[in-house]
Amino acid sequence: MHAVPGLFDPLTIRGLTIPNRVAMSPMCMYRSEDDGQPTDWHLIHLGSRAAGGVGLVITEATAVAEEGRITPGDLGLWSDTQISGHRRIVNAVREFGAVAGVQLSHSGRKGGRSRPWDGNTPLPSSQWGKTLAPSPIPFKPEWQQPTEMTHADIAQVIDSFAAATRRARDAGYQVVEGHFAHGYLMHQFLSPFSNRRTDEYGGGLENRARLPLAVAHAIRDEWPSELPVFMRLSLVDWIPGGVNLEESIQVAAWMREMGIDLIDGTSSGIIPGETIPEAPLYHLDMSRRLRAEAGIATSAVGRVRTAQEASRALSSEGADLVLVGRAMLQDAYWARHAARDLEEGNRVEVPVQYRRATQHLS
Ligand SMILES: Cc1cc2nc3c(=O)[nH]c(=O)nc-3n(C[C@H](O)[C@H](O)[C@H](O)COP(=O)(O)O)c2cc1C
Repeated sequence: MHAVPGLFDPLTIRGLTIPNRVAMSPMCMYRSEDDGQPTDWHLIHLGSRAAGGVGLVITEATAVAEEGRITPGDLGLWSDTQISGHRRIVNAVREFGAVAGVQLSHSGRKGGRSRPWDGNTPLPSSQWGKTLAPSPIPFKPEWQQPTEMTHADIAQVIDSFAAATRRARDAGYQVVEGHFAHGYLMHQFLSPFSNRRTDEYGGGLENRARLPLAVAHAIRDEWPSELPVFMRLSLVDWIPGGVNLEESIQVAAWMREMGIDLIDGTSSGIIPGETIPEAPLYHLDMSRRLRAEAGIATSAVGRVRTAQEASRALSSEGADLVLVGRAMLQDAYWARHAARDLEEGNRVEVPVQYRRATQHLS
């Protein structure tokens, strides 16, 4: 019998030890100034979650190309000029004892929208330029019609992910995650709903996965061998005819063979109208199967609110790491509070500057 790890046990992958198994899920803040540069908002927003005790902070979807942003407010790593701003985030997160990760993304046909609070509406092509996709099918009829990618566009996307990975490494991030979920470009290739190509990038799973696997390979190649690579996959599309779990298990197994370390299993986002379960940890059963059948580490994400729910993801052997999103927007100190709830408060490192708070007040 092996011991099942608890939420505040460290997780070692390759040469990296994450001090506990609570991670901040990547969440777009749309707070760049139309140039992809990190701002003080990002520094404080992410740094405060590190101060709040999480083991791993994953910086939001960060565009590998200017046209790969969702909105003008997205973070970017498409230019060397963006590295120093990311380095400030990394330093702040690490200063508080957490590991700094970043999610790399290309929006494909879901790019070129206004920020959520400006309506999430498509921006005119005069303002944004074209959006790219495997096939010229818009996400919604009223959205921009994307341009079907040529083989040159495909090669360019692989290069962009590779270059952004190099920049992430130069910024000092210790985990890189590919955003292959939520209906963005890599998921658009994986799903038959958005990929109607008749060349070697469309059709059967092996063809639909060809570009995502090439990108995963490029990321792994550029990333230091002692540091882990995660991939976020939409495990299912929730609508018959879309991506299903068996396909995702196969993709995960291919990824494991190429040295990907962990699958961050989520779902949905490819077409409007999916019905998504309301229950906490609603991806967990799928993650457990993927973990067992593809033989790869997984994380659990989705409607985790309490320390007990997060612990269950690990104790049920469905995941190696728990990602928390919205609950951590509500409470920057979610991880410390979870440790206290589990009576493990002493297991989350207290910065030396705060130690007097753990002694009697005088
Ligand atoms: C404001 C906001 C922004 C998000 N941005 C991203 C993102 O950049 N990348 C991503 O993979 N998921 C994104 N998500 C999804 C979260 O990472 C997470 O998977 C989802 O919210 C479910 O977890 P939760 O129930 O703990 O919030 C976002 C969610 C929210 C609420």
